[in-house]
Amino acid sequence: MMRHNLLEKCSALKAMLQSIEMAVIMEAHNGLSARIVEQTGFQGIWASGLSIATSMGVRDSNELSLTQNLTVLESMVESSNLPILFDGDTGYGNFNNARLLVRKLERITIAGVVIEDKLFPKLNSFIGERQKLAEVSEVVGKMKAMCDSRDCDDFQIIARVEALIAGHGMEEALRRATAYHEAGADAIFIHSKKKHAGEIIEFGNVWQRRCPLVIAPTTYCSTPLRDLEEAGISLSVCANQNMRAAVMAMKTVCRKIYDDYKLDSVEDDITPLNMIFDMMNYDELEIANRRYLPVD
Ligand code: SPV
Ligand code: MG
Repeated sequence: MMRHNLLEKCSALKAMLQSIEMAVIMEAHNGLSARIVEQTGFQGIWASGLSIATSMGVRDSNELSLTQNLTVLESMVESSNLPILFDGDTGYGNFNNARLLVRKLERITIAGVVIEDKLFPKLNSFIGERQKLAEVSEVVGKMKAMCDSRDCDDFQIIARVEALIAGHGMEEALRRATAYHEAGADAIFIHSKKKHAGEIIEFGNVWQRRCPLVIAPTTYCSTPLRDLEEAGISLSVCANQNMRAAVMAMKTVCRKIYDDYKLDSVEDDITPLNMIFDMMNYDELEIANRRYLPVD
């Protein structure tokens, strides 16, 4: 299989964002989940900060370093050829850290990054009420610096507006989105934690496709995707479902083996080993061994 290069991955993500049809991409948080997402047929990956942190056993509050996140991203890139959109939180510091992040991500062929208008160290958006937001001028500076320092014009730089989810209202959300768009952001990620998509649909209707909109319908997951598409959403991110599925499956299996004190009670609920070997393409290694190992 030919590996896709940076330009191909960035262009693929850009095309998803610019299409009139809404695209749906799936969360992954390590090489294994990235591989499963690709093999299922999704066209792109959301590298979720919450899911990566959780899979590393820590909180979604910048407890992982950038280097740790990059190592996870590298294993995802090695396991999958899909365009990856990285959840860059607040950009690991000021404009300088954010623009250095762009360079590092491009080097490992990540297709784009989302930067949210919060303060470092961030806290997951679903926690608490009225989280304090960064000054608009600071985020505008970050956006400009990031756009100026990308090597690939199609590397997607997305500004995430936290005004709605943090309870600062529609007007503030629109003010911020407008400023980030004018600063050069390729798309706006508008986030909400409401059970219904009302405020997202209202935002989309006012925004009028000024630039692509990205959402994560984690709490308003019962809204039909068609309604979101009609409101002008370009990209819908399944933000954490694989991580939550893994937690549930591991807890169930641990509980069963612990309680029953035997292994065979879970055998029907877990992936057979030969499926794991197929998924990882062990056959290829066998063929390579025959071709390259010295024959004795
Ligand atoms: C993530 O998946 O880490 C996100 C989306 O940023 S959310 O957790 O909904 O804030
Ligand atoms: Mg996040």
